[in-house]
Amino acid sequence: MTESKLYIEGGKRLAGEVFVHGAKNSVLPVLAATLLSGGVCRIENCPELSDVYSSTRILRSLGCKCRREGSAVEVDARTLSGCEISEDLMREMRSSIVFLGAILGRLRRCRLSFPGGCELGPRPIDIHLSGLRKLGAKITEAHGVLDCSMPSAVTGASMTLPLPSVGATENIMLAAVLGSGETVIRNAAREPEISDLAGFLNACGAKISGQGSATVVINGVESLHGATYSIMPDRIVAATYMGAAAITNGEVMLRGVRPADMHSTVSAFEQAGAGVYPYSDRIYLSAKKPLRAIKTLRTAPYPGFPTDCQPIVMAVLTKARGTSMIVENIFENRFRAAPELRRLGADIKAEGRVAVIEGVPRLSGAATVASDLRAGAALVLGGLAAEGVTTVSNLHYIDRGYEALESSLRALGARIRRI
Ligand code: UD1
Repeated sequence: MTESKLYIEGGKRLAGEVFVHGAKNSVLPVLAATLLSGGVCRIENCPELSDVYSSTRILRSLGCKCRREGSAVEVDARTLSGCEISEDLMREMRSSIVFLGAILGRLRRCRLSFPGGCELGPRPIDIHLSGLRKLGAKITEAHGVLDCSMPSAVTGASMTLPLPSVGATENIMLAAVLGSGETVIRNAAREPEISDLAGFLNACGAKISGQGSATVVINGVESLHGATYSIMPDRIVAATYMGAAAITNGEVMLRGVRPADMHSTVSAFEQAGAGVYPYSDRIYLSAKKPLRAIKTLRTAPYPGFPTDCQPIVMAVLTKARGTSMIVENIFENRFRAAPELRRLGADIKAEGRVAVIEGVPRLSGAATVASDLRAGAALVLGGLAAEGVTTVSNLHYIDRGYEALESSLRALGARIRRI
């Protein structure tokens, strides 16, 4: 079977409205957290993404019942029976590692294979494991399999993370919720998705405070119950549509967003010369004037500029007047969009953690290949701006994080389809 591609006839100014779906990086840990509830949970604003399907497959393999009802997913965790995730399921999605803390927290035993290699360079899990060990977990690693057990119930622990890892903060929160005593995570990740996970767990009866700050405190409780919870909007998807409007000198009204979570992204688009107007749950972006370079843009943990938005803004800067520099501080291998954007005529030099982008007046269509999720999004933006036809292949990456990308872009006037 030949895989489908996106076929884009670019060069059209986009304009219109788009609704931003629920956040992938929030729904995945929340789905894992439903395990801890031991009840029935209804997760609303749950996007239809391949990573969400992978999560529900894992939940089912552990004995839970999952069913989708429109934009909601219902998980019945009363029937949870297994504590082992097969290698196949682990390989589908690196973020399946977040199931470790949830399974361990509920069943005090978990066996899963080490998450496979990843496109963003080495993504170790040492901080996850050392945090879980501080909670009392015994963890052994043999032949790529992690065998974890919690000999006695969690009684609380105090720890300082060497760096504010999002996944490690989530795993430690999940493992510490059921039990007694107080767990304090210092230098915790402050991303809004951490607050969303805490919001869901608290709706199930957990006692978590400090989420969104660098110190998260979890007071163990004996049990949780089911809850209905609505997932926060996806700030990276929002940035992608802002990028699509900006690179085509168009305009877009984003609906269903939380501007308060997006200061650094809004500021990056403003620095590039777009007019950005946040309202309570909407953001309007207008880029009718020519874009200009951003002198230096550095990725950083929240509230800094998100690494996930970096390839998107890189694509936009390929058409901005002047020289931009991007410093990538989070992942080693996150300039993989650069060589493919060069195929469209972009002038980008990337070495190590630094990329220098000389704006060019026009891009022209070419055949490109997505190497990861956000690099794929960057190529779609490049294609929308390029004159002629651009194709983007390896769509399975893009499908991990965007629901109805083509139809949303078509509603803005783009000529894009899947072939
Ligand atoms: C999450 C997001 C991802 C985002 C990233 C940073 C999900 C599903 N994914 O990934 O989209 O790009 O946050 O905002 O939410 N590190 C270690 N040891 C560890 C853990 C991490 O050295 O045990 C390093 C990583 O290699 C990386 C940095 O810490 O350099 C940040 O990683 P982390 O915050 O853990 O990212 P993820 O949770 O994997």
